[in-house]
Amino acid sequence: MPEPLIQITDLHKKFDRHNVLSGVNLKINRGESIVVIGQSGCGKSVLLKHLVKLLEPDSGTVVFDGQDISELQGRKLINLRRRYGMLFQSAALFDSLTVAENVGLGLKEERSHSRAEIEAIVNEKLSMVGLSEARDKYPDELSGGMRKRVGLARAIAGDPEVLLYDEPTTGLDPITADMINDLIVELNTGLNVTSVAVTHDMTSAYKIADRIVMLYGGKVEYDGTPEEIKSTSNEIVRQFISGSAVGPIRVG
Ligand SMILES: Nc1ncnc2c1ncn2[C@@H]1O[C@H](COP(=O)(O)OP(=O)(O)OP(=O)(O)O)[C@@H](O)[C@H]1O
Ligand SMILES: [Mg+2]
Repeated sequence: MPEPLIQITDLHKKFDRHNVLSGVNLKINRGESIVVIGQSGCGKSVLLKHLVKLLEPDSGTVVFDGQDISELQGRKLINLRRRYGMLFQSAALFDSLTVAENVGLGLKEERSHSRAEIEAIVNEKLSMVGLSEARDKYPDELSGGMRKRVGLARAIAGDPEVLLYDEPTTGLDPITADMINDLIVELNTGLNVTSVAVTHDMTSAYKIADRIVMLYGGKVEYDGTPEEIKSTSNEIVRQFISGSAVGPIRVG
């Protein structure tokens, strides 16, 4: 077996006295598309933030490409983050910058591209997400789906090896959501990246995942392909994927 690109081992994280992650183990292979599902508040975003050291664990490790990321500081940490592209849950665009400026911001900060190069990259990425026309608009002038697409264009601007998507379809109508899913599949296959998406949208999960991982009680409750999960006998998983208020998962 090749070494996984990302290996999460026995990850624990609590906030005050609230245990959010209590022993997460997960291996992600190069080129895989992983979707992490689970109830609101179960720690999906927290897990994702640990991958790029936006949060640090109380105990446990995240190893990326053979290196324990807890050891990375300064320049080395910046280099790690450059290998990632991230679409945040809220799209996190700067309202005072145009679409094109938002997409090119990371490249500008890297200081390794000329203005003309940045412009060319921005145009290419905006065209990939179908937003060439919106390049000079401001985020408030865009719909939710368009903002997500700008977020996607920004996530891929630096040609990352790994893409992290936090709730890429939440809050979008089903048709726009499907368009975003198609775009994600296209990016994952076309750019040959490894991707980790977190969502509670099962339609999206089935569409974009090679493997679906369910977080429950601070741990990985299930890990399998979309086909496998559809026929699982695990009652917790079955309740979640069928969206039922009745079952072992305590609601509310
Ligand atoms: N920086 C923080 N400080 C304190 N508590 C936090 C922090 N970040 C997350 N939490 C808590 O950790 C828990 C998990 O949060 P997280 O955002 O990971 O949930 P989630 O699974 O992404 O939920 P959703 O589906 O609603 O986005 C929540 O109880 C949240 O309040
Ligand atoms: Mg979240």
